[in-house]
Amino acid sequence: MSLPIVALTRDIFPDQIDALAAQCQLRQSSGDQAYSQDELIALLRGADGVICTLRETINAQVLDACPTIKVVSNIAVGYNNIDVAACKARGVVVTNTPDVLTQTTADFAWALLMAAARRIPQAERFLREGRWQHWRLDQMAGKDVHGASLGIVGMGRIGAAVAARAMGFGMNVLYHNRTPSLDAGAAQYVPELDGLLARADFVVLVVPYNASTHHLMNAEKLARMKPDAVLVNIARGGVVDDAALIAALKAGHLHSAALDVFENEPALNQDFLSLPNVVLSPHIASSSVATRRAMAQLAINNCLSVLVGKAARNPVG
Ligand code: GLV
Repeated sequence: MSLPIVALTRDIFPDQIDALAAQCQLRQSSGDQAYSQDELIALLRGADGVICTLRETINAQVLDACPTIKVVSNIAVGYNNIDVAACKARGVVVTNTPDVLTQTTADFAWALLMAAARRIPQAERFLREGRWQHWRLDQMAGKDVHGASLGIVGMGRIGAAVAARAMGFGMNVLYHNRTPSLDAGAAQYVPELDGLLARADFVVLVVPYNASTHHLMNAEKLARMKPDAVLVNIARGGVVDDAALIAALKAGHLHSAALDVFENEPALNQDFLSLPNVVLSPHIASSSVATRRAMAQLAINNCLSVLVGKAARNPVG
């Protein structure tokens, strides 16, 4: 029996590629450029399985042009790049990589939160630019984290891991979800987003991105945040209206923002670059070596399971 054909859209760790190549007929593209839809179809046509990342849009046109595909295995927990309904309608299994990235991503939410509150990137720039002349009482004075209120928007696995860390800082933890979560620990459920925004000193966004969360944080919601609050986004760019956030920061309503994700990334709204009180990172919340390896391995396993006729560990939809 011939080995299944697997298309891998992006590089993963070299030893993982070698191990995968031993179990399938592997197709890979060279280079790291964005695919046009035609280039993506050219790579995927005739493949039985696809291992892809959030950079690739798998929609009905792609599926129709590649009818041999049985599984689309995303190397990410979020899967807004995949039309899951279109996959389901064509009998294509979609899988993601939950759990393995939960703790690493929660760690990073905290790295961003602390960096914004205590102005660490600003302070480092100050030193690197040779501007430190003497000690001052108010130098880079930031915002206290301990004892403050943390509002988590989206209490899933990652939200719960962010909340667990907040307990060590003696924070009052609130969360908003459509329904109360059993994983929320001591965090307090706030049924209305506005109620959470009015009370939280720090707001961390961890919701999936879909039509109902597009621009969830728009000008109106940003205005409902407490004056001098901090916004952290580790969800998806489209959850925040970037232009509205920039306006809120320019108006001095918020203390700061820390963003790992952006609308239209990797393109950035250039106005972010001139704002001193924004911490920016290039969509790396899950990026520790161990976790990115675990994500790639889980995506490989999910893909190969389906292709040998077994159930995938992480089907979605
Ligand atoms: C990264 O953003 C992911 O969804 O895993």
